[in-house]
Amino acid sequence: MNHRDVFLTEPLRVVDVKASNRACARVSCYVQDEEYAASFGKQWTKFQKTQLDSYNGTCISRNFLEKLLNQPLDWLRGKNVIEFGAGAGRFTEYLAQFANLVVAVDLSSAIFVNAALENENVIAVQADLLHMPQSHMKFDLVFCRGVLQHLPHPPTAIAALFDWVKPGGWVVFDVYARGRLGRLEAKHLWRPVIQLFFTFDSYSQLLDRYAEKILRLRWSLKPFFPGISKRLLDYFLPIWDYRGVLPLSSSQLVEWAKLDTLDAMFSKYDNPMKHQEVARVLAELKCSYSSDERNNFFRAQASSAGAQLGTQVHKYGNACCEHDGGQIEARRRGDARSIGEEEPQ
Ligand SMILES: C[S@@+](CC[C@H](N)C(=O)[O-])C[C@H]1O[C@@H](n2cnc3c(N)ncnc32)[C@H](O)[C@@H]1O
Repeated sequence: MNHRDVFLTEPLRVVDVKASNRACARVSCYVQDEEYAASFGKQWTKFQKTQLDSYNGTCISRNFLEKLLNQPLDWLRGKNVIEFGAGAGRFTEYLAQFANLVVAVDLSSAIFVNAALENENVIAVQADLLHMPQSHMKFDLVFCRGVLQHLPHPPTAIAALFDWVKPGGWVVFDVYARGRLGRLEAKHLWRPVIQLFFTFDSYSQLLDRYAEKILRLRWSLKPFFPGISKRLLDYFLPIWDYRGVLPLSSSQLVEWAKLDTLDAMFSKYDNPMKHQEVARVLAELKCSYSSDERNNFFRAQASSAGAQLGTQVHKYGNACCEHDGGQIEARRRGDARSIGEEEPQ
């Protein structure tokens, strides 16, 4: 399978990527460059295997995917899936294993290291969710995880997802939730300072040298300040710390800390949304959905009118500021269900 099975437009170029199982894996590129996503390209090239279950021996990504889908992975069987912001492929590798077809899309060079490139049922595309090539295809599942807050205007990006779903199909996504302290959260305060003094590369080197020491300092401080919260520590020792949250060894904790600290400090856009704000966007798109309020996960089902939603996408404006008359809230309350502990971001 290749891009011609899905897209009507020819790519600007096709890049052959060396792969072990296949003579050659191909990525069809529809963008000139990575634009604002270049830091993600670097991040995923450096840590291309870190979060892959197939590499780290955990079920972290599998469990996450099942929680987000709110389904066992068998639910994917026979489905055609498009994944936006596929990154290094921690989810793509499962989508490829279970679904019929997966179109993996990423704006950055992460797509060249995506773990699922070698699968025959994967079509890999470097493209921008907001400026996709024309297609004759709609999908059973549109999947987008860890991406939307990194776009300049997340409501527009949410609407753009619905361009790709077929009537009765599913759009499953998350958006990082806005923290209680908003722009006073540690990462928002640290980001401009770090970007002032470091480039991605120099900060990455600094983390290579000191991440383990900083983490160990955090861990050693904990017993002396039993009441001290992770949040408070973030202000003094700003590094991602998954100890006690994810089942990782010490060396894996260091690796994940470096990866997610770089992710947090160098993403150009960081526009988290409140659950109610996303709810208003979905209300405007007139789709029914269920959600997990705690994790800001959303599973929307396109109605038979779903195909028409696409026409609204690029006109999409200020839905965050509009009211939905309470209808969607009531539906949300009825459908929402907690799906348990989630990997913090
Ligand atoms: C935080 S990473 C998440 C990657 C993957 N979904 C995961 O959970 O591991 C966000 C990804 O979205 C991609 N991205 C950002 N803006 C995009 C856009 N406009 N279109 C497509 N991908 C985009 C980035 O390049 C990056 O790989």
